[in-house]
Amino acid sequence: MKPVTILSIESSCDDTSAAVIRDGLLLSNVIASQKVHEEYGGVVPELASRAHQQNILPVVDTALKRADVEKNELSAIAFTRGPGLLGSLLVGTSFAKGLALALNIPLVDVNHLQGHIMAHFVEPSEQYRQTIPSLQGIEIQHPRYPFICLLVSGGNSQIVKVEAYNRMTILGQTIDDAAGEAFDKCAKVLGLPYPGGPWIDRLAKQGDENKYPFAKPNLPGYDYSFSGLKTSFLYTIRDMMKAESVTAVEELAERIPNFKEDMCASLQKTIIDILLGKLKKASRDERITEVAIAGGVSANSGLRDALTDYGRRYRWNVYIPPFSFTTDNAAMIGQAGYYKYLDGDFCPIDAAPYAKTLI
Ligand code: KG4
Repeated sequence: MKPVTILSIESSCDDTSAAVIRDGLLLSNVIASQKVHEEYGGVVPELASRAHQQNILPVVDTALKRADVEKNELSAIAFTRGPGLLGSLLVGTSFAKGLALALNIPLVDVNHLQGHIMAHFVEPSEQYRQTIPSLQGIEIQHPRYPFICLLVSGGNSQIVKVEAYNRMTILGQTIDDAAGEAFDKCAKVLGLPYPGGPWIDRLAKQGDENKYPFAKPNLPGYDYSFSGLKTSFLYTIRDMMKAESVTAVEELAERIPNFKEDMCASLQKTIIDILLGKLKKASRDERITEVAIAGGVSANSGLRDALTDYGRRYRWNVYIPPFSFTTDNAAMIGQAGYYKYLDGDFCPIDAAPYAKTLI
């Protein structure tokens, strides 16, 4: 029987990515990150769309070459339809449509958030593992349905009950900022480059997590809020600047030993406490002990360690995706697309991308 070969495309934010999955095995996954946003301290949508236009052809071409797959061997094209930046999504959507039309093969649209959760089911081929040292020799555990997934990225923070690849229920979500946004915005206040999450992660390792107590929200249910924490972080710095009679964060850092490290460690601990507190409640109420994390923030080493610790304490089976599948990538889109393809769930050629949606 002819193998099922899916080319997938992800372009929802500032990473252009293409992957090839054959019969459920990941053959290639190419990601071009956009450096152009660094100097602005955040993603500039117009620049992101332009960079996607420049990147998409070489990225798709490289993904096919690395997979050793010809275009005429493709069974379908899967693409991220949303949520995300509309201009960025348009580039991937239009490219996917054009190629699917030219090759006369079906199109499969994928919800980016479902994609992040499906990252847990990506099965890298031997060929792909050879290219990623951290994947060599490790066995990837896939969660069993139903499981609870904490989905934390730059744009979302949700607790999702996952009963099947296409049956997901949001139990709770942020009512204002996402966890990744809190990392990025606080990092910006400290004068760290964008995206700030990985920088905070690194500095937090050398800091005292109990040095600065920041405000935690008190919301009922499983919803999150991070805007108060951002304000608390900002006001702590403002008050310290006043006390030290300085006008810049760098001056504070010169005067107070380990200032940035302690701020990062305290912030990271507060975010982790907020995230895992609600996750614990959801797991207990739903009586589900298969617990996973997904999304860019799931790369955070403090969150990974804390989740592993919770797993030990509460007897959860914990699933943490390999680093390569945490931030935006086309492999996860291909995995969700592969399942949809097997179910014959295709999308019309006039499908428009969407900026906002739920799972
Ligand atoms: O999933 P993702 O690549 O993009 C979205 O779909 O939003 O997530 C990006 C977010 C950014 O906010 C970034 O700062 C955060 O993930 N992030 C981290 C780490 N690595 C990436 N946050 C904390 N610690 C990290 N190590």
